[in-house]
Amino acid sequence: MTVLGTERPVVVPVGVPRHIDGDDARDFRALADVFNTALHHDLGLDHLRWDAAEMLPAWQDQTDRLQAAFLAWKDGRPAGALALTAPREEGATELEFDLLALPDARRDGAVEDALLQRLLAEAARLGRTHVQTYTLHRADAGGERIGSPTGFGSVPVDRYSRFYRDHGFTLQQVERNSILDLTAPLDRVQELLATAEAAAAAGPHYRLRTWTSPTPAPWRAEFAHVISRMSTDAPFAGLTMTEETWDAARVARRDERLRAGGLLVSVAVVEHVPTGRLVAYNELTIGADRTRPTNQWGTLVLREHRGHRLGTLVKCANILRWRELVPQSPVITTFNAEENRPMLDVNEALGFTPLTVAGAWQRVS
Ligand SMILES: CC(C)(COP(=O)(O)OP(=O)(O)OC[C@H]1O[C@@H](n2cnc3c(N)ncnc32)[C@H](O)[C@@H]1OP(=O)(O)O)[C@@H](O)C(=O)NCCC(=O)NCCS
Repeated sequence: MTVLGTERPVVVPVGVPRHIDGDDARDFRALADVFNTALHHDLGLDHLRWDAAEMLPAWQDQTDRLQAAFLAWKDGRPAGALALTAPREEGATELEFDLLALPDARRDGAVEDALLQRLLAEAARLGRTHVQTYTLHRADAGGERIGSPTGFGSVPVDRYSRFYRDHGFTLQQVERNSILDLTAPLDRVQELLATAEAAAAAGPHYRLRTWTSPTPAPWRAEFAHVISRMSTDAPFAGLTMTEETWDAARVARRDERLRAGGLLVSVAVVEHVPTGRLVAYNELTIGADRTRPTNQWGTLVLREHRGHRLGTLVKCANILRWRELVPQSPVITTFNAEENRPMLDVNEALGFTPLTVAGAWQRVS
C-alpha cells in the first residue's frame, strides 16, 4: 500500500520525444509545466516561461550542446524537475542546470535533495567539475542579503540561496533582469538611435544591416565570429565559461533549430565596410505566441570597435524594427550582470526597468 505524502521521490530521466504533441512527449511537456508552475509561484510573474515546443529542437539536435533532464516522481505525479545543459567543446568542465520542485512538494526538501544528488552524479559521469545554476528572486524582495563577490548586486537570503549555500555552492555573480515597455511610445529609442548613428558616422566606415533569421548565407561565417565572442567578452565573474567554437555550419544548425521551435529572430548587425567584417550584433526573439514577452539575446561589439555607440545603434535599430515585425509583444526582457556598466548604461538610457534578480551559483568538485 502506498501512503500518500510519505513516498520517497523517484528520479527518472526524460526521453527525447519525436513530436511535441505525441504521447512520448508527456514527460517532456511535464518538465516545462513543473518549471512554469514553480516560477510563477516564486515570482508572482510569468514573463519567464519554459516552452516545450521551443525547447524540443535543441534536444533533437545536440551537435553543439548537450541537453538532458529528469523528473522527480512522488505520489504518482511529477513533483520536481531538473534540466542540464553543457557545452560540447573539447576540455569543457562546466554544466549548467535548473532545478525546481512544485510548491506543494517542497515541505521536507526530499524532492530537491533527490534531484541535486542526481545532478551531482550526472556531472561526475560526464566529467564536469563546475556545476552552475541561476536562482531567481523578485527585485523588491526584502530582508537579509548575500552580496555578489563582484561588489555589484546582491540576492535575498531565501530558500534557494540557503539551499545552494548549504550544498557547497558559492555565489559568483548577480544579474539584473529588466524589462522595456513596448506599448509606450518609443521616442527615447528614436532619439538614442539618432545619437548613435551620428557617433558611428563620425568614426570608421560602418554600415547597419538587419535580417530575420535564417542568417543570410554570405553572413553566416561572420555571424559565427561575433556570436562566439559572447562566450569570451561578456563578464562572467568567477563562473567558468568555455570559449565556444562557431562556424557557418553551426549558425545554420542553430537557425534550423530556432525555426523548428517556432521562434522568430530579428538581427541587427554592423558591418565594418573597409574589411567587410561584422563587428556588432543584437538579437530579439519570440516564440510562436507573439503576444508573449520578447527575449533580448546577445548584444555585442567587438573590442577593437567599442566606443562608437555601436551597441546603442544595433539595439535601437532592432527594437524599432521589432515593433513593426511583432507589434503584439508587450515587453522586452533582458539579463545583464550588475557589474556590466557599459551594457546597463545603454539599457537604462533606453528605459529598461529592473523586475527580477538572478544569482549565479557554482560548485566545484
Ligand atoms: C556593452 C557593449 C555592447 C557596449 O559597447 P559600445 O557600444 O562600443 O559602447 P559605447 O560606445 O556606448 O561606449 C561608451 C564608453 O564606454 C567604453 N566601453 C564600452 N564597452 C566597454 C567595456 N566592455 N568595458 C569598458 N569600457 C567599455 C567605451 O570605450 C566608451 O568609452 P569612451 O566614452 O571613453 O570612448 C560592449 O561593451 C560589449 O560588447 N560588451 C561585451 C558583451 C556584453 O557584455 N554584452 C551584454 C551581455 S548581457
